[in-house]
Amino acid sequence: MKGIILCRSKYGASRKYADWLSEETGFKVIDTKNADIKEVSGYDTIILGGGVYASAVAGIAFLKKNIDALRGKKIYVYCCGAAPYDDEILDIIKKKNLKDKLSGIPCFYYQGMWDLEGMNFADKAMCKMYIKMLDKKDPSTISAWERPFLEAKDKKCDWTKKEYLTPLLELIRKDAENSDQ
Ligand SMILES: Cc1cc2nc3c(=O)[nH]c(=O)nc-3n(C[C@H](O)[C@H](O)[C@H](O)COP(=O)(O)O)c2cc1C
Repeated sequence: MKGIILCRSKYGASRKYADWLSEETGFKVIDTKNADIKEVSGYDTIILGGGVYASAVAGIAFLKKNIDALRGKKIYVYCCGAAPYDDEILDIIKKKNLKDKLSGIPCFYYQGMWDLEGMNFADKAMCKMYIKMLDKKDPSTISAWERPFLEAKDKKCDWTKKEYLTPLLELIRKDAENSDQ
């Protein structure tokens, strides 16, 4: 099985998951921003991972642009956000990022990291505004996936867990076995 992991990570979580996936599969990891479709189309299995910023998955544009050239390949997407896993969140992310020709691609969501102080100026400003808005909300209307933003605020958090990758790794192995038969 020949595979590659494309990853776009600003704050480290998606990269951490990419490195764990690489340990388990032997696939090399490259930054999606340096990905060349001529190289990527030489692999049978492509995993694309990226951070979630305002519900958009970093690096997904590479798949949108090149999906025709990747026809017949096994493609998987994972993404990392600060919110804990929730079916509704995954649904929102899929609707926004995996439309049209990308709609059948399996997509996994993992909880990532949070470091308000380590963010760049624009990200910090946007996240501070978001927290301010949540702070003003009636606490009884705050959803389970909004709560971590309020609890984290300016604390550094790392919610990554290697075990979250098990379903994706199992699917990759199962697909590889099926294509060998
Ligand atoms: C500008 C900005 C927007 C974000 N938007 C979301 C979001 O919509 N949902 C979410 O769960 N987390 C959101 N986060 C948190 C990031 O997804 C989280 O820090 C994740 O670890 C980012 O992936 P990375 O560490 O690979 O860069 C946002 C963070 C920033 C800086």
